[in-house]
Amino acid sequence: MRLIAANWKMNPQTMEEARRLASQMEHGSMHESHKVEIALCVPFVFLTALKHTVHHVKLGAQNMSEHEKGPHTGEISALQLKHLGIKYVIVGHSERRALGEDDEFISNKLKMAHAHKLHPILCVGYGTTQKTMFTAEKKLLTKQLQAALKGVNFERGGLTIAYEPAWTISRGLGTAKPVAAERSASVIEFIKDKYPEARVIYGASVTGENVDTLSRFRVIEGALVGGASLDAIQFLKIIKSFAKE
Ligand code: 13P
Repeated sequence: MRLIAANWKMNPQTMEEARRLASQMEHGSMHESHKVEIALCVPFVFLTALKHTVHHVKLGAQNMSEHEKGPHTGEISALQLKHLGIKYVIVGHSERRALGEDDEFISNKLKMAHAHKLHPILCVGYGTTQKTMFTAEKKLLTKQLQAALKGVNFERGGLTIAYEPAWTISRGLGTAKPVAAERSASVIEFIKDKYPEARVIYGASVTGENVDTLSRFRVIEGALVGGASLDAIQFLKIIKSFAKE
């Protein structure tokens, strides 16, 4: 099944706003919930409260520790997420790689997610630029994927890979353009050939306006949405587009 995942990043600023947004998304996607999977990856502080707000929409975290437990100030463990009933966790997002997370670190987190049966959304694509040629991009993605997935075997349906060309992430709604849908589809096909067990989705500057150009490619198995996932109307449009194709 396709997956439409929201990455709220460090938004919104209040619990009221988080509840309002989540509730609009839950109610607005009733009819699509049996056609696509929907996930909201929200700041840790909202996870507990939102468990009572959403039902068919699943919750995800945006990060987790590579350690099982212990003296790691400010970290959240896979077990803590698991016990809270959280299904998804984003691993290796470019905004975290930019803070210094390397391939080995990301690989350790994936092993931890696997051990505790969380479903990781592994982001790759950090380091590409608008000028990166297809061959160079494929090389970089292969390196990131091999390093992250070394020694972990996810069963079918247990892993999502998000192709996120970091240079075109919007940093807010409507400030960038997604990679051409044809290019995205080719990259995703390339990843899918190597990792047929994984679901492969696209993420960077997806909005309600451009989603139809992406969703018509069946090989694109969903989207990881930043800025546009903070606007219920936009996010619901994205869900509906992927659900109808
Ligand atoms: P935007 O949709 O805002 O470009 O963000 C993409 C992203 O980083 C999702 O993880």
